[in-house]
Amino acid sequence: MINIAVFASGNGSNFQAIYEAVKHQRLDANISLVVCDRPGAQVIARAEKVGIPVFSFSAKDYESKSAYEEDLLIKLREHRVQLVVLAGYMRIVGETLLEAFPGGIVNIHPSLLPSFPGKDAVEQAVAAGVKVTGVTVHYVDEGVDTGPIIAQQSVSIREGESIEAVTKRIHEVEHAIYPKILQKVIHRHLSILN
Ligand code: GAR
Repeated sequence: MINIAVFASGNGSNFQAIYEAVKHQRLDANISLVVCDRPGAQVIARAEKVGIPVFSFSAKDYESKSAYEEDLLIKLREHRVQLVVLAGYMRIVGETLLEAFPGGIVNIHPSLLPSFPGKDAVEQAVAAGVKVTGVTVHYVDEGVDTGPIIAQQSVSIREGESIEAVTKRIHEVEHAIYPKILQKVIHRHLSILN
């Protein structure tokens, strides 16, 4: 068993999928904290509903990234977090967290990296006219969606398909694969920690 923190900024449907996997014993983890950088985001209500502690913050209340990440680190240590799972966290992770969790921060991104990094990855793929996009799970490094790739799954874009329709299918794939990939990552990580 490992303690994880899920970081999210918005709806939190991937948090929900991870939570369900834990609840149904498909994922050997305890979600000890949800971190959210947008007070009022839906993910906060989702976490509170199932009794998971939440730390929410506004970056604008701090003078720098390292200042809010120092605060985050205190919370992560309080909750004995061993692995950080980004699930729609729309901020670049800084060196404070990267140094505290070497090889211990994982992200999901809605494209086949290295194509379409950053924000609005689905919009970027549809605008580029590609026929295939997908989902990437990767370790986080100091770049924007550049860390070592753990797994990828493709999603085809149909003729004339809207951004909303592609996004919906990407989400379905994310919810199906993220818990499964995390299960493997967790076992790998535990063998390194032990
Ligand atoms: C997900 O599609 C995730 O891949 C994406 O944000 C969405 C969050 O949805 N992340 C990024 O774009 C990171 N660059 P959710 O809040 O419903 O889980």
